[in-house]
Amino acid sequence: MTHKIKNLNIGIIGVGTVGESVVKILEENREIIRARAGVNLVVKKGVVKNPNKPRGVNIPLSTDIDDIIYDPQIDVVVELMGGVDTAYIVAKKTLEHKKSLVTANKAMLAYHRYELQEIAGATPIGFEASVCGGIPIIKALKDGLSANHILGLKGILNGTSNYILTQMIQNNQDFHTALLKAQQLGYAEADPSLDINGGDAGHKLLILASLAYGIDAKPQDILIEGIESISTDDIEFANEFGYAIKLLGIAKKQNNEIELRVHPTMIAKDKMIAKIEGVMNGISVIGDRVGETLYYGAGAGGEATASAVISDLIEIARGKSSLMLGFERSPQINLKPKANICSRYYIRLAVDDKSGVLAQIASILTQNAISISTFLQKEIKQKNTAKILFSTHTTTEYAIKNAIDDLKKLDSILSEPYLIRIEDE
Ligand SMILES: NC(=O)c1ccc[n+]([C@@H]2O[C@H](COP(=O)([O-])OP(=O)(O)OC[C@H]3O[C@@H](n4cnc5c(N)ncnc54)[C@H](OP(=O)(O)O)[C@@H]3O)[C@@H](O)[C@H]2O)c1
Repeated sequence: MTHKIKNLNIGIIGVGTVGESVVKILEENREIIRARAGVNLVVKKGVVKNPNKPRGVNIPLSTDIDDIIYDPQIDVVVELMGGVDTAYIVAKKTLEHKKSLVTANKAMLAYHRYELQEIAGATPIGFEASVCGGIPIIKALKDGLSANHILGLKGILNGTSNYILTQMIQNNQDFHTALLKAQQLGYAEADPSLDINGGDAGHKLLILASLAYGIDAKPQDILIEGIESISTDDIEFANEFGYAIKLLGIAKKQNNEIELRVHPTMIAKDKMIAKIEGVMNGISVIGDRVGETLYYGAGAGGEATASAVISDLIEIARGKSSLMLGFERSPQINLKPKANICSRYYIRLAVDDKSGVLAQIASILTQNAISISTFLQKEIKQKNTAKILFSTHTTTEYAIKNAIDDLKKLDSILSEPYLIRIEDE
């Protein structure tokens, strides 16, 4: 008697960069995927905005989302349309209809992951592709590290910003030149806001933090800063004192408090994470039993992201998909207030080049209990202007913000002070 291979029928809402790659890989790697899943993964239908747009794949298309969600033949809905509000409606309707959901949509999960978990109950939700594309970091946290308390994690979670910073560091380019290059190479969208303002990395950090700690924070609750104000002076200072500048997502657990933050960070050049260059992503996770583990790979791109989407589909086909473990809110865990976060800081000031200014700055720092660690002064070509670059010893966000506010009131400070946090651990 021959064993009859069954099908897992899939509907894809959004057949763009990632959706097309999912269809192609399912076709081109069909045999190996069937062997691993135990069933055929069959794309029944796709939903798009414009059905007349030329596409690299040939599947039945519709423009009505309900054609997929309410099709009794479709077992799994794959949401690859992006955006927050409509994608949330798609996810909600899918789960209410007791269909499994796979999504790559970090923006939607950053806001709605807990509501979706509640609606889903035992219905599987796969979201491996939502954080760092091809790197299996979700499965690492859900499965591989599940015996551990996660003490902390830090990662380069956005490839576009990492490419821009790498260009600035290696080729001495300013931010705008590096951004233009990223756009020309297709690494940055026409509107790259979420990549460069830290928003995209923030979305991903929140998803990881839910898995690691069960913390229900939203983007507006955490400290998020982007890379758009980094200058070549900052790169030069970092270089002089042995640091690279990276946009890091950082989570740290201390007792029952979790601090979550995304910002440009000066990090010692010899750290593994400082060596992750170009569009690549990397994450370090520290478990209380396993110690530090590191994950590196392509964080975006159609194929890498589709690879993660299909891994979720295979897990669902095997019937082994766990619930969204870790999305359960942990009642004992609190988000650390931003003002209490401790760090060392680098500060850049443009000042009037006249006597007494340094003393004024030193006095403000002292009043706020901040002490200087390293110092660099640079002449600027404009007459009577100097740049003062320095780093501080460890202090709080509260103290540094007060000091910056006080500095801004000085007539001798010529432009908005700029700070970058320094991560020594
Ligand atoms: N691209 C990556 O490298 C990457 C990496 C990780 C995660 N992701 C995530 O994956 C998701 C998809 O990204 P993508 O790059 O593939 O996006 P994309 O290329 O812009 O594709 C979006 C698709 O969704 C369709 N669509 C959009 N709004 C729709 C609507 N209201 N009704 C029906 N169809 C709609 C579009 O239709 P038309 O084709 O007709 O315009 C298009 O096919 C996003 O959540 C993104 O954040 C992407």
